[in-house]
Amino acid sequence: MAEYCKISFPGSDFVPITLECHKSLSEHLTIQNSPVLFGCRTGICGTCLVEVIGDIPPPQPDEQEMLETLAANHAHARLACQLDVTSDVLIRRLGG
Ligand code: FES
Repeated sequence: MAEYCKISFPGSDFVPITLECHKSLSEHLTIQNSPVLFGCRTGICGTCLVEVIGDIPPPQPDEQEMLETLAANHAHARLACQLDVTSDVLIRRLGG
């Protein structure tokens, strides 16, 4: 049975979205349903930089390297296109 994860966007007017856990955010979040913007969708451009609050796996080395360049002092910064969503999360956009 699929488990579902709720994606919320505090500080924005977007309503929370419920997705099957482990679904790719870059395939399911759009400019119509979320404040998150995507570019490359492969973890190299930084457009999808967000703050994430939730119990999800830590960044892989490639994502970690990008985060150190883009948001070195931000403990909750992540690349939305690289997230493995395993529980309910709060997402705020950080990217430009
Ligand atoms: S969309 Fe380019 S890093 Fe996520």
